[in-house]
Amino acid sequence: MTAVSIKDLGWKYSGRKHFAIEHVDLEIPENSFVSVVGPNEHGKTTLVSCIKGLIPNSFHGVWRGQVEIFGQDVRKMSTERLAADIGFVFADPEAQFTSMTVEEELVFGLENIGLPLNEIQERLNWVCDLTMIGNLLDKSPYEISGGQKQRVAIASVLAMRPRIIILDEPTSMLDPLGKDNIFQILTNIKKDTDLLVIVVEHNIEQIAPLSDLMVLMYDGNIAKAASPAEFFENSDFLLQHGIIPPQATTFVDRLKQQKLYDGTLPVGLEDAIDITSRVLRNHSTPKN
Ligand SMILES: Nc1ncnc2c1ncn2[C@@H]1O[C@H](COP(=O)(O)OP(=O)(O)OP(=O)(O)O)[C@@H](O)[C@H]1O
Ligand SMILES: [Mg+2]
Repeated sequence: MTAVSIKDLGWKYSGRKHFAIEHVDLEIPENSFVSVVGPNEHGKTTLVSCIKGLIPNSFHGVWRGQVEIFGQDVRKMSTERLAADIGFVFADPEAQFTSMTVEEELVFGLENIGLPLNEIQERLNWVCDLTMIGNLLDKSPYEISGGQKQRVAIASVLAMRPRIIILDEPTSMLDPLGKDNIFQILTNIKKDTDLLVIVVEHNIEQIAPLSDLMVLMYDGNIAKAASPAEFFENSDFLLQHGIIPPQATTFVDRLKQQKLYDGTLPVGLEDAIDITSRVLRNHSTPKN
């Protein structure tokens, strides 16, 4: 089933001369992992804000085209419906916090929608496992590290069991270890849930292996939308559009150019190592 259907979408922020995004068409199947990539100011946040309904609900401007979430026009959905269906995680998690402890932060939303205690406990256990925050429950969300804050923010969104989770540059404010943890959590979400995940991310190296679909926003349009293997086929095109392919892809692409390999390009290290071992085996001269 199609989860998100976007037809000829355009948005111009009030007071701006040009459309921030224009003529955007995209179909996203449910239970998939989508990464939105591209240089700064090219329309990534605007696109995901339209999917979340933040645009046009919370912004002034000119809208064109259509966005449907599970068959419903996003502009006709109530804010309650949008909030229930679509979770949103920002780059700066602190903006989302309202409680004195991590546990209260997670439980607050669940109590608000009137869930029974056993269901709340079950969801709490589930998100703590998924986001690795079981040891932080009695801490203040303001006094933990940036990476931990981001994990709590993701946990509190997941606890509400949305159908779609959108993360806008969730790792941009974190140190390398903090970033790695978020990618681990994204891996867990992909493996253990049937959520549609949409991530805006600059770290191509780490997001590509997780993605089913990669969307390149450039100058307010989709310059390319494809599976990772297809997405990285034309590295010159990508470099012209501000995207540096993963090292694993570039490495095997070189083998291809030297006619040592003739298959699909890998996006992750494991696949590149497999391919390289095969190439080496085929080219080693047997010893007598
Ligand atoms: N609230 C706003 N009001 C007016 N113009 C805006 C607003 N938000 C974004 N824009 C403009 O819309 C265009 C697209 O911006 P957008 O934030 O969607 O890009 P982005 O790809 O998410 O960039 P970044 O990587 O820096 O987050 C830019 O020209 C930007 O200046
Ligand atoms: Mg942005």
